Amino acid sequence: MRSFVAEVVESERLYGDTHALWLRSPEHLAAAVPGQFVMAYAGESFDPLLGRAFSIYRLREGARGPEFAILYDVVGRGTDWLSRRRAGDEVRFVGPLGRGFEPRERVQKMLLVGGGIGVAPLIWFADELVAQGREVTMVLGGRSAAQIYPASLLPSEVELVVTTEDGSLGETGRVTTPFERLLPWCDQAFACGPEPMFEALYNVTRDSGTNKPVQGLLEARMACGLGICYSCAVFPRKGGVRLVCHDGPMFDLRDLYA
Ligand code: FES
Repeated sequence: MRSFVAEVVESERLYGDTHALWLRSPEHLAAAVPGQFVMAYAGESFDPLLGRAFSIYRLREGARGPEFAILYDVVGRGTDWLSRRRAGDEVRFVGPLGRGFEPRERVQKMLLVGGGIGVAPLIWFADELVAQGREVTMVLGGRSAAQIYPASLLPSEVELVVTTEDGSLGETGRVTTPFERLLPWCDQAFACGPEPMFEALYNVTRDSGTNKPVQGLLEARMACGLGICYSCAVFPRKGGVRLVCHDGPMFDLRDLYA
């Protein structure tokens, strides 16, 4: 984990209110794994003061070396500031942080489930799994078509299943229905999205009687990202307290909901 300033390479609105910001990557980010995050500090002054956590969305080799990207919806002052960055601007970060996804070795069929902007870390993860020759099925859900990541930007090897609550794209409903259908197919499942989605996925897994592990990447409000402030505390059902930034953001859903 290190603090660094990264130069913006490209800023684009990808779909709906969702933007991607590409930046020159420092050398040490090459050791990051999908599911880890960075804290971004928006603004030229200390307003807003606190950083915002963003999953690393994708890596690529640019004209002047490695680049990384974050994916975000414009929802407040910090993300509005980010959306106005242009090539050559600089943004301050700390990272990589947290515990990322832990795919088992020698398993082949990987099920990835994303709700809303929770798709962000799954894209880089899918890139990596496909490069390793694994089979990837991705289930993406949102309120409407405007919240669904474009299929054209995914590796062509990824099987995509889409659900929307208003039926404007794919199956009408939520991701839990295709998740239940695909759970017997997969060797391991991974998810990122809002907290109620995780509980619903855990309930489906428990009721199916399978012991297949489901790793969830929790989203939480993070003030420090460093295990100091406790703003990201979660409370597992069986007791105790875990910090999303330090103990996660990846948790086996059984560790939270069983
Ligand atoms: S964000 Fe401060 S302890 Fe996790």
